[in-house]
Parts: sequence; structure tokens; C-alpha cells
Amino acid sequence: MEAIILAGGFGTRLRPFTFTKAKSLLPILNEPMISHLIKTLPKKVDTVILAVNYRREQIEDYFFKHDFGKTILVNEEPEPLGTGGAVKFADRYIKGAFFVLNADIICSLNLTEMLRFHKKKKAIVTISLWPVENVSEFGVVDIKKDGTITKFVEKPKAEDAPSDLINAGAYLLEPQVLNYIESGNLVSMEKQIFPQIIQNTGRFFGYKFKGYWCDVGRISSYINVQSLLLEKQKKTFVTGEQCSIKGKLYHSCVGNMVRIGKTTTIESSVLFDNVNVGENVLLDHCVIGEHVEIGDGSILRNVAVGDNERIDKHANLDNSVVWNQPIPEGYPSKQIGNVIGE
Ligand code: GTP
Repeated sequence: MEAIILAGGFGTRLRPFTFTKAKSLLPILNEPMISHLIKTLPKKVDTVILAVNYRREQIEDYFFKHDFGKTILVNEEPEPLGTGGAVKFADRYIKGAFFVLNADIICSLNLTEMLRFHKKKKAIVTISLWPVENVSEFGVVDIKKDGTITKFVEKPKAEDAPSDLINAGAYLLEPQVLNYIESGNLVSMEKQIFPQIIQNTGRFFGYKFKGYWCDVGRISSYINVQSLLLEKQKKTFVTGEQCSIKGKLYHSCVGNMVRIGKTTTIESSVLFDNVNVGENVLLDHCVIGEHVEIGDGSILRNVAVGDNERIDKHANLDNSVVWNQPIPEGYPSKQIGNVIGE
């Protein structure tokens, strides 16, 4: 069985880290985001098709060095084709029912159970569903008792919402869905294809699950997902190899070869590899890229510092992004992704 993983977006909301890295390779508990997802795939899935574009070579290189016991095929779109276009572009690899998964969702969904549900319902499409409180920020499904989805309602007022369930970014599709998608075009699966399947087949189902769900799209959710997973593992922090930690870490993840000076406090933050933090520093809700230096006595709250940047001694930064290098050629000036639920 095949699984297509959508990992071709620019990840513009995770700037400045996606200026230098593929979003799906950003570390979560010191392991690339995409590796967490691949570990949740059922045994039955023996082939993983990575639908990639931006920073393809980094993704390819990662999978060249790491074996997941499955055939990994890197399928590069000539240009980003959107969620539907990327699926169509992988059609030559599809032999039967297949998964389509967003690379940037970390959740407790059991894909084996979802597959069982899909078969039992004889569905053409099954999508995972997650309940939210703030329905007015999302696309919400209208769903019958037996799990049939009859429509999507975009950003309804709370009182008009047909349910509290949103598309959670994991799909199971029968191959006939591919016939609905035109080749070579920018196509959104959610906006253009799903409504047609609902209308033409009536066999479009929603699979609800419990536990946790996190769309790792923004810096805030990127920090939150690490705290959530740390809590699940009953850990206060994790550190990589060859670190020298003299300060205190709370709810934080620190990569390899990181040095943290004495009387420094790191709270709810993520530090990539090769970071050097001085003495008497406070980092609170920060993400710090690779090869960053942070001078003694600095206080940073809600700050994202891109790779290779340097923060002077006694800096005081709040709610900011630090990036003083050129933006890579071809990187979009605004968000072009397919935002789940929005
Ligand atoms: P933003 O620019 O911050 O919205 O991030 P993004 O580019 O990752 O977009 P979004 O979060 O909406 O995408 C959800 C998932 O679909 C991510 O795993 C993306 O890599 C992936 N994705 C989005 N657009 C494309 C595309 O055109 N082609 C492929 N192959 N994947 C895509």
C-alpha cells in the first residue's frame, strides 16, 4: 500500500527557519517532523511517496541516510502543484487505496484504525476529523450519524456551525479519485476535489479520533507541539549529544553541540544544533536556529532567531524575528500554502 506525504510547501509561516530548511525537516524533540509521521504509518504501507518541491535535496539526503524499512520515493513537482496537483503527479505509483498525509501534522491518529473504518464503510474518501472550540476560524464538516460528510462549511459563526469537526489533514483515497484531478495544474484537494466527490459519489466519510492534534504551521504551534510531546513523555527537557548545559532548562528542546552558560534560563524554547548561549540569558518561548550565538545578559521573549545569526550582549528583544541575511531566491513573499482548516 502507498502513502503520499505532502511535503512540498515553502512553510512561509515558519520563516526564518524555512529560509534555510525544508519545513518537514525542522526538529521536533530533536527528530525531523516528517520522521514522527512516518513512524505512525501502518505496516501495510510499504511505499512512501514524498511529494516535494522546495528544498527537495535536503529531504532526499535525509532519507538517503535514514532507513524506515519502507521504500521511499522522492517525487519532485516541477513547481508546487497544490495538494491535489501533487497527488495527481504521483499517480503512476498508486496501485490501490492510498493515504495522503500532510507532513506538518503531529497527532495521535491511528492510521490502521482509519483504514479499517474506510474499508468497512466502502468509502471512496475518508478524512480524519478533529474537534475544535473555535469553529469560526476553520472549515467545518457537516456530517451524518453514520459518518457520511455532506459538505464543508468555511469559517461558520459558532451558532451556524453544522459540527465542531475540522479536516485534520490525513486522507484515505480510492484510486478513482485521481480521475477527478487534472494533470499539471495547481489543484487544491480540499477546495476543488473533495466537494466533487461528495456530490458525485456520496461515499465521503469522516473518521474522528481522540488524543491530540497539532498543525505545526506557525512558530507558536511549533513550540507548543514540543511542550505537548515532552509532557506526554513526562520530561522537562531533552538535549542532544555533546552539549554543555550550565543553566536551567524548562519545557525545552536543545539539539546537538549546544552550550548554555551559567545562570541562564531557557523556558518553552527550541534550540537547534550548534547554538551558543552565554551567561545570565533568559530565553522564553523562543526558537533559535543552527550556529547562533547569544551574548551574555540577553533577554529574549517570543523571538525566532534564524540560522547563523548573532545576538549581542545585553540585547532585549520581544516578539521579533531575527534574520539579517538575503532571502533565498524564489522564496515567496507571502503565504501560498494550503492551510488546513482555514
Ligand atoms: P505555509 O506557507 O506557512 O502556509 O506552509 P506550507 O507551505 O507548508 O503550507 P501548508 O501548511 O498549508 O501545507 C500543508 C502541507 O502540504 C505541508 O506539509 C506542505 O509541505 C504541503 N504542501 C502545501 N502545498 C504543497 C504543494 O504545492 N505541493 C506539495 N507537494 N506539498 C504541498
